Amino acid sequence: MKFKYETHVQTGTLLNANERSLPLEETLREEIAAALKEVAFNRYPDSSQTELRSAYAEVIGVDPGQLIAGNGSDQILGYLIGTFLGPGKKLMTLDPDFSMYDYYASSYGASVIKYPIDLTQDFSVRAFIAWMKEQNGDMILFSNPNNPSGICLDPDAVREILNAFTEIPVVIDEAYIEFADTESSAGMVNEYPNLYVTRTLSKAFGLAGIRTGFLVTSVNNAEPLREGYVPYALNTLSMKTASIVLSHAEELLQYAENVKKERRKLYEKAAALKCLKFYPSQANFLYGESAHKQRLLEEFAKAGIVIRDYRGKDAFRITIGTEEENRAVWEVLQTVEETL
Ligand SMILES: Cc1ncc(COP(=O)(O)O)c(C=O)c1O
Repeated sequence: MKFKYETHVQTGTLLNANERSLPLEETLREEIAAALKEVAFNRYPDSSQTELRSAYAEVIGVDPGQLIAGNGSDQILGYLIGTFLGPGKKLMTLDPDFSMYDYYASSYGASVIKYPIDLTQDFSVRAFIAWMKEQNGDMILFSNPNNPSGICLDPDAVREILNAFTEIPVVIDEAYIEFADTESSAGMVNEYPNLYVTRTLSKAFGLAGIRTGFLVTSVNNAEPLREGYVPYALNTLSMKTASIVLSHAEELLQYAENVKKERRKLYEKAAALKCLKFYPSQANFLYGESAHKQRLLEEFAKAGIVIRDYRGKDAFRITIGTEEENRAVWEVLQTVEETL
């Protein structure tokens, strides 16, 4: 296996994994605790995922038959890569993008080719399509909004890609779509038979700990995929918890709106810094670059804040947290700027 995933336990203010900073409300936790007491621990989970699929279908406005739930959207991404690719096959994605694509492609013996995003210019979807035509790969997969750059293609740009590639699966990873100012591509799955969209409850819904994500596609695509899927992907506790949380979706999604406001505030200030370069973002994080990254990491460490460091590059990524956390981030950025 070429790809190694680092495991680590972290402490401090965690702004490195794009999680929701706020814990679930006490009343919601109580509702979950009461429901979990009634769970049949001695029985296998409901492999049809009926309750969970109905709850999510209602939130995003699709038919429950269009959904498959996974142990995180990670599992769904792995399943799609394993289904569509194998030795000798090529996955086309972006650079930078989510590292788990490399992990799964390498586990299934497929290669990964990456179109470099040039953050100094507006993203050209035409150039991306032209590059992909030349590469002649077997599957397209990218995150939208993109992790870590924060760029996001609008529905017209996504349609251009779908119209240009009708013969290979196009998978759009929408882990951060709730934070974007643009629409999800999930509404297009009945129009484009090769479109697969993945979503997660780990980010805006604050459920990273229970590992719940979804595939959204047409019923025609979902049915055969369900037949080949691992029967007990999700445990009963996760499915029950997620179903309850989804029944409060409206209140929970208010968090994403707050994150957007906080992101705007922090970006506006950070964009004026001279030693650190920040890029506009459509997700719950800001991506930055600096020749002084080491100094920045030291200051964050002193402040007890953990951010994501892209080793071997000048790049880093900071999750948008609570107002207080973002203030602490801004203090660190200012200290670095003023003392360089
Ligand atoms: C772009 C992207 N896709 C998918 C995931 C995985 O999410 P999940 O927790 O649903 O497995 C992440 C997690 O960080 C991500 O950044």
